[in-house]
Amino acid sequence: MEAPNDLLKAAAQVLPNAYAPYSGYKVAAAVRTSSGRIYTGTNVENASYGLSMCAERVAIFSAVASGERKVTEVLVLVERGPPATPCGACLQVISEFGDDSTRIYSVSLETRESNTWTLRELLPHRFTKETLKATRRDQK
Ligand code: THU
Repeated sequence: MEAPNDLLKAAAQVLPNAYAPYSGYKVAAAVRTSSGRIYTGTNVENASYGLSMCAERVAIFSAVASGERKVTEVLVLVERGPPATPCGACLQVISEFGDDSTRIYSVSLETRESNTWTLRELLPHRFTKETLKATRRDQK
């Protein structure tokens, strides 16, 4: 399955804004929501390394801050090297606003290679709010 051109274009547009002075690894993301809109993000690193944030989460948080609650597609674009699979933390955040069939695309600007998966393929048996609901005793 080919990465959608509009998501790819949106990610490529913000890739130069990636703030990655420590790793030198520039990443951009574009997500499509249930309203059909596209939101973008880049990785934003920090001198306190552990505070660095991935492009996928920046894009999803931007969508949520704009009032969106459902993500249907996520595209990750790397400047160099092979396509990147979203990290575990990003998969959990995608899970919060996606579902098993949420489509994830990964593309390398350098090699032009691309991969695609569903969220279910990358994060089977995910932890969701359904588990929390099932444990609540204060609500009938
Ligand atoms: N990074 C992302 O933004 N998304 C990914 O899918 C992989 C990793 C960022 C985090 C950090 O700024 C840099 O890439 C190196 O790990």
